[in-house]
Amino acid sequence: MTLPPHPGLAEGPVYLDYNATTPVDPRVAEAMAPHLTHFFGNPSSSHPYGSELRSALAAARAQVAALIGGRPEELVYTGSGSEADLLALRGAVLAAGRPHPHVITQATEHPAVLETCRALQRLHGARITILPVDRVGLVKPADLAEALTDDTVLVSVMAANNETGALQPVAELADLAHARGALFHCDAAQAAGKVPSTSRPWAWTSSPSSAAAVAGPVDHAGRDRDGGHTARRRNTVNRPSGTSPGRRPFTPPVPP
Ligand SMILES: Cc1ncc(COP(=O)(O)O)c(C=O)c1O
Repeated sequence: MTLPPHPGLAEGPVYLDYNATTPVDPRVAEAMAPHLTHFFGNPSSSHPYGSELRSALAAARAQVAALIGGRPEELVYTGSGSEADLLALRGAVLAAGRPHPHVITQATEHPAVLETCRALQRLHGARITILPVDRVGLVKPADLAEALTDDTVLVSVMAANNETGALQPVAELADLAHARGALFHCDAAQAAGKVPSTSRPWAWTSSPSSAAAVAGPVDHAGRDRDGGHTARRRNTVNRPSGTSPGRRPFTPPVPP
């Protein structure tokens, strides 16, 4: 099959939006191809059609774990980076079981984090502190130290900013949070595969990573498609970032 040249690559503008999405690396496409065209089956099935896929999934899981310095069994796949943020933030805050949990984040987080924090405030009585950033987009550890209280259950600060590329001092911030008994969440969607990962617990506990940001396809796993269910109410709790209409948060997958 011969594909037409991409209009943007011929005479169009130079593509500089790699933090929004990357082209699929030919090696990724090659690795995926047999599973799109040849191997089929349910990986949970005990027959050979299932076991082939089960092995492929286990190998992929091990590769992702190695990338972020975690253990395969600790990975939780989500449908998108937004959904991973939402799951981590809501899970950590609600599991704390406090009447008015305190959450600290910072001004330049992705909407997936900021809007989830707003929803936690609106729906669950959370108190949210949004730390400012300096002229190069960084949080000052001293500001975090001052904002932490005995009621702080979670601190969420991203590893790399999706617009400016600023790299937050997450190791230092995580130490401060942990010293006060708070959990630390790091949205590493723009860092995984680009910035060397450490094996600190926070780095792999809730690090969303979007395949589209690292030469893979826009995420699909487990996503509901928009529309098709006319009677369903749109879920404003689970749609924090607004990047796609519907009941679940994500950048629209292509192909759908
Ligand atoms: C830092 C960051 N967090 C979260 C997301 C959301 O990821 P997704 O589009 O997969 O929902 C993005 C998307 O670009 C991002 O850059």
